[in-house]
Amino acid sequence: DWQDLELPPGFRMDFREKTGSTNDDVRSAANAGAVKGLVIVAGKQESGRGRRGAAWVCPPGEGLAFSVLLRPRENKALWPRLSLAAGLAVAEAIERLGPLAEVKWPNDVWVGGRKIAGILVEAGDDFVVIGIGINVGVKEFPLELADSATSLALECGEAPELSAVLLLVLERLQVWSAKIGGGFEELLRGFRVRCALTGKAVRLLAADGALSGTVAGIGDGGELLVETPNGVRRLVQADEVRITG
Ligand code: BTN
Repeated sequence: DWQDLELPPGFRMDFREKTGSTNDDVRSAANAGAVKGLVIVAGKQESGRGRRGAAWVCPPGEGLAFSVLLRPRENKALWPRLSLAAGLAVAEAIERLGPLAEVKWPNDVWVGGRKIAGILVEAGDDFVVIGIGINVGVKEFPLELADSATSLALECGEAPELSAVLLLVLERLQVWSAKIGGGFEELLRGFRVRCALTGKAVRLLAADGALSGTVAGIGDGGELLVETPNGVRRLVQADEVRITG
């Protein structure tokens, strides 16, 4: 029934019962000329990937794992903003189902300080793959994740249909992915009110080394704005941000 699911205009569904990683599948399709809007959903991913080479594992049926192909017309320099667009889209979709959601810059989605969804954005020469994993039906996490992860089932009391979650995310992604050029102020406004890091003490790895400070907010280009202990404000792009206090 996944294959028959009607997606919002502009999206096309390709359901794979079992695959390695939907991000890899969409990348191959893109390299073979697939048009934008392709959505590959996996029943089961055998080598789901997270950022920084981590694995993304979610029991089949309990997690929603999918990737979307975009071919942005905006200048490539603006493509990193799609990370913010995806994070905001997922946070809003989750909120439609009940729980208040925040985005941990650049794009983990949290509910009550625990991770509920992860996003892996990868760019090719002329396309972007947005891979999204959402914990939907998981009722119990492995011990090492018990304090840091949550799911829609745990937050809503019962698990929504995976397809309903997919439709909500695509609808919001449609809106926000169109706002990385003109309209970016609106995207920033939405993101800033949901930024889980503002005011938090953090430690992160910036391009030129490790950095500690307090997050003052999100810069006008979507960067993280960090105030260092000596009062200097820096705009940073970083892959991993750890909250220290
Ligand atoms: C992260 O939290 O580091 C990102 C996790 C992204 C997981 C999704 S699941 C669908 C898509 N396919 C993958 O291999 N990864 C992304």
